Amino acid sequence: MTTEMKTVVETRDRPDGVRVVTLNNPPVNAIGWEMRQQLHDTMRAIDADPAVKGVVLTGAGRAFIAGADIRQFGQPNPPGVPSLTDGVHAIEDCGKTVVAAVNGPAAGGGLEVALGCHYRIAGPKARLGLPEVNIGTIPGATGTQRLPRVAGLKNALDMIVSGDLVPATRALELGIVEAIEDDPVEAAAAMALARPPKKLREDDSKIGDIPDSFFDDYKNGMARRWRGFEARFKAVDAVAKIVLPYAEAVEAERVVFRECQGTPEARAMRHVFFSDRQAARHPSIPKDTPAATIEKAAVIGCGTMGGGIAMNFANAGIPVKVLETSPEALEKGLGIVAGNYAATVSRGRLSQEAMDRRLGLISGVTGYDDIADADIVIEAVFENMDIKKQVFGTLDAVCKEGAVLATNTSTLDVDEIADATARPEAVVGTHFFSPANVMRLIEIVRGAKTSDATAQTAMKLSPRIGKVGVMCGVCDGFVGNRMLYQYSRQANFLIEEGALPQDVDRVIYDFGLPMGPFAMGDLAGVDVGYLVRQERLKKFGPTNKRESKIADAIYHLGRYGQKTRKGWYDYAEGSRTPQPNAEVTALIEQASADLGIARRAVSDEEVLERCLYPLINEGAKLLAEGIAARPLDIDLIWIYGYGFPRYRGGPMHWADEIGPAHVLERLEHYARTSDPDWLEPAPLLREVAGQGATFREWAEAR
Ligand code: NAI
Repeated sequence: MTTEMKTVVETRDRPDGVRVVTLNNPPVNAIGWEMRQQLHDTMRAIDADPAVKGVVLTGAGRAFIAGADIRQFGQPNPPGVPSLTDGVHAIEDCGKTVVAAVNGPAAGGGLEVALGCHYRIAGPKARLGLPEVNIGTIPGATGTQRLPRVAGLKNALDMIVSGDLVPATRALELGIVEAIEDDPVEAAAAMALARPPKKLREDDSKIGDIPDSFFDDYKNGMARRWRGFEARFKAVDAVAKIVLPYAEAVEAERVVFRECQGTPEARAMRHVFFSDRQAARHPSIPKDTPAATIEKAAVIGCGTMGGGIAMNFANAGIPVKVLETSPEALEKGLGIVAGNYAATVSRGRLSQEAMDRRLGLISGVTGYDDIADADIVIEAVFENMDIKKQVFGTLDAVCKEGAVLATNTSTLDVDEIADATARPEAVVGTHFFSPANVMRLIEIVRGAKTSDATAQTAMKLSPRIGKVGVMCGVCDGFVGNRMLYQYSRQANFLIEEGALPQDVDRVIYDFGLPMGPFAMGDLAGVDVGYLVRQERLKKFGPTNKRESKIADAIYHLGRYGQKTRKGWYDYAEGSRTPQPNAEVTALIEQASADLGIARRAVSDEEVLERCLYPLINEGAKLLAEGIAARPLDIDLIWIYGYGFPRYRGGPMHWADEIGPAHVLERLEHYARTSDPDWLEPAPLLREVAGQGATFREWAEAR
């Protein structure tokens, strides 16, 4: 082999005859080809060495093995390197007892290596799991056949399908490890000398008789939660091979694993995996910019959003003061917060003690002096510029120097709000999504004068309070809603032209979003949408372009959505299931007639392309304007804020999959046939398509 090999497997002999094999590939001992080669060779050498009485396998530093080496993703291996499956079998076939001392995370291939060992001892910080499905693939080195043999079928499936790692305590309950010890290496050495080797692949005792419908039932049970995540279903099929002889089952697992590597899902999931990590490092913030420490927070306004935002701080253990205009308003808002927590407790997802602790971190105030020492203040008052300016003027007067002053505005100009203070550099937008205690996204809106330090503080705060912060610039609607406007607009045109709300919603749901635009309108409130349009009309005036009037007409019928049990659809008492309504259908047909449009059959393909390609088109404009710095920022905003299916990677990644040239051609087509006003392709889409490139390539070339 010509490729130079670094040493990643080290050995040390103890006086008691135990050889300690340490995996050492900083920072997390990821498995690459070097480790596979050296692990394999080391185990063979140990097997042949009569001086070795037992073996301990452990990880250097804080990890056991955190998974496959992502730096080697998609790169060819040097020829002749053994597979990880060969490595696992070399461990298991060793004639000396091999005990894994799982000192830290053992994920993916890491857990497979540990399961190749004859026994496992966990350290207190161990976390174990098979997260392959999170990158659109399945465990590929015997994991689907081994985890069930220690944890039982149902528990193993739950772990493999969720992709979650379990802590040491749970691993012990599940039988994955023998014990938890403060010094796992010492305990493992003792066990290696005391016990004979035990091959997991020969042990079916935890499998037992499998009912005929077991795996089908399991898949039915996961159908709702994991709709569209094909690798998760394939992982169940791979586990189901456990009824075959071991060698055949492992071969079958390997086949599925290989199939999964090149799927659109795997590409999308890898893209999101890397994007998640890149989003936090925004190109507009110099790398070494320090973030301010956030120990005390304040929220202005305890309405729908303010209450939810306060919960995020409390959940993260950060004390937060909530300011309202009156004691009555405070009582109302905090009552809703308490009710939210109580509902989570009654569903068994939070302990009463945790609820009390969290509520104890939230205190209501009515005077600004009480929030003067906050490290960050998030304003969530009515969406009205005069009120916001007044609030920021007061914040400027009372807040300590260095405090971050954030606004949750969804439609107003962050720069104008910033200019209501004498410290616009401290002002930033933090656009949470509703419900704010649930939705993961915060659009961090960087104003023209927002300082690097302020931007960095907001970005670093996001993961601490359980959120994904994605940075963008100031414009009408920011990134997410500006794209959403185009999507909703086409949905409304489609019903004027011949589709019905249920047709559009079905296509969008089938594509993978949680609901279509009309069901979403009912959830958010038809009245809310109407008021937003009225505000926009006041602010920007009429567009002189095609606009649909149907949504306004639904509003004027008093059909406000789920809250009135009628909107675009009807809703039975206590139900969120939309039922088409004849009055709405008649209204839509009348609207077409009034516009002189002869209703036609609209194909599912047209619904999909007309609703979703404008997202890509608007995304291209946002990139060209620099409002979004990278396609990945747009993708994350749509995945975490709007439920765009993760397994499609977000709108811009999806565009790259279907081809920007194809998107361009279809937009030109629909601009000709239906809507010349809004479907004109963006110059950047033309440029990227014209080069036969992708948005990713365009971004990488900058
Ligand atoms: P809301 O009407 O539910 O709550 C606003 C609260 O602010 C009320 O409790 C009110 O008493 C209080 N308030 C008004 N003026 C105040 C003042 N001067 N000082 C202190 N408190 C004051 O409104 P919501 O929905 O919570 O919206 C708040 C902000 O969040 C708005 O800027 C809105 O655009 C934005 N937003 C709303 C979303 C939503 O889905 N509701 C989503 C994302 C952002």
